[in-house]
Amino acid sequence: MAQTTEQRYRVAPVRPRGRQWPFPLNLYQSAVGRKWVMAVTGIGLIGFVLVHMIGNLHIYEGPARMHEYAESLRTLGGGLVPNGAILWLMRAGLLSMFVLHLHSAITLSRMSGNASEKAGVVSGAKKYEGGRDHIAATFASRTMRWTGPIIALFILYHLADLTWGWWLGDDFVAGDPYHNVSTSLGALPVAILYVVANIALAWHIYHGAWSMFQSLGVNNPRYNHLRRTLATGLAGLILIGNLSFPILTQAGLIDEDERQCPISEVEGNACLAEQASDH
Ligand code: HEM
Repeated sequence: MAQTTEQRYRVAPVRPRGRQWPFPLNLYQSAVGRKWVMAVTGIGLIGFVLVHMIGNLHIYEGPARMHEYAESLRTLGGGLVPNGAILWLMRAGLLSMFVLHLHSAITLSRMSGNASEKAGVVSGAKKYEGGRDHIAATFASRTMRWTGPIIALFILYHLADLTWGWWLGDDFVAGDPYHNVSTSLGALPVAILYVVANIALAWHIYHGAWSMFQSLGVNNPRYNHLRRTLATGLAGLILIGNLSFPILTQAGLIDEDERQCPISEVEGNACLAEQASDH
């Protein structure tokens, strides 16, 4: 029996209709709301990565300035708030953005998988119909699915390495990030890991920034070259900055040769602080 157009294209709701959450949380129950959350948290996370990369450039000024920079993060807010309070607030914000970004990405991909399966069943359409643009879009979103997990695993490794000092053991010195970076990235396998992870990150940022504009409704063909330029510039800048750390550590530019302060195990190394304030 012939199907009407309406019968052929009617697709079951992506999500079975359950209880509606109160406003504004209910926005997150729709795919459009989740895309917005993914885009906005993506902007926040890119902002963090950019600021973190720029901050890490202090390493080229030597151990004392790098130490001073790390300390200045801990004392943000001056005497107005307890030491470390603003940093912990920023960490909580960063973690929330990361969790929301991950959750919206995973559930959206599940939703679109369900929707295209159902559309395929109802309309009899092939999954990858639609020409070169569709193939390019699918390729981009497929790469997001493997660059995303690489970045998540890298962050876990990175925290265990340079924040908690699990891998360096006795070689880890709290309050001396210059020493920790040069010791960790001085090992070739670690440097390679940083290079691979940061290439995946730049790729993810490039495609993320590109599709973020679409989610936010900036999708006019007249501005597409601007979108591409911005996405390339942002990803390129972060890539160059972040790759410089493992590469220049391996090249011997970040090492302990010129060090004037002994490597102390005391948090907030007094000699480094004194040297930094002499500048
Ligand atoms: C590529 C070179 C990188 C270097 C040399 C580097 C260096 C560092 C250092 C030294 C710390 C510890 C700071 C301290 O406790 O004083 C740190 C923390 C951190 N890094 Fe990186 N990082 C790099 C890349 C990245 C990337 C690509 C990401 C994220 C995608 C990232 C995310 C973090 C996070 C979340 C923390 C913890 C911040 C905190 O708890 O305050 N890092 N990094």
